Amino acid sequence: MHSLGILLSGRGSNFVAIADSIDAGRIPDAKISVVISNKPDAPGVEAARQRGLTALVIPSKGRSREGHDREVVAALKQHDVDLVCLAGYMRLLSPWFVQQFPHRILNIHPSLLPAFPGLEAQEQAVAYGVKVSGCTVHFVDEELDHGAIIVQRAVPVFNFDDEHYLADRILKQEHIAYTEAINIVLRGNYEMVGRRLRMKKIKKK
Ligand code: GRF
Repeated sequence: MHSLGILLSGRGSNFVAIADSIDAGRIPDAKISVVISNKPDAPGVEAARQRGLTALVIPSKGRSREGHDREVVAALKQHDVDLVCLAGYMRLLSPWFVQQFPHRILNIHPSLLPAFPGLEAQEQAVAYGVKVSGCTVHFVDEELDHGAIIVQRAVPVFNFDDEHYLADRILKQEHIAYTEAINIVLRGNYEMVGRRLRMKKIKKK
């Protein structure tokens, strides 16, 4: 049984989508062992508790990055987490944190990386005038929104779009993409060629 740890800072819709996928059997052989928020008032914490999941608040305000990260990692290890999913976690991980879970930390970003990393990705996309945007689930490395790409899903950008319309359209795809990416990583049916993730062919018996 795989043990997932979810880190979030806010609304938590990606967390809920992952939890729904597990409950519906779309992510087999997995459970969410702990949800951790760095923000005390994150709605995702309440959503987790309502589902009967363990949800911890480890506030980051005023803490050093590594001091906070050490507490978060200790909680993840205490709950035997083997896959960490960042789901709207608005905090950069220290290199030390990243090294604790090699190729076992995923993040979702609301653009087709490497376009529009960082904050307000949907607003950046509208302002730039791209005709296609989307979302990316990637491995977390030491750089912001940078690690190897696992899944991307594209959406059109329409004339009438503002960042809110676009964000809604992308979010629906985020919820599908995260489940796809978790399944790829948990099955381990891939190889890394440089920063390229390639699915292995399934051998017929
Ligand atoms: C999503 O757009 C995600 O891509 C970004 O932060 C947002 C989190 O939304 N990293 P939610 O809290 O999962 O609803």
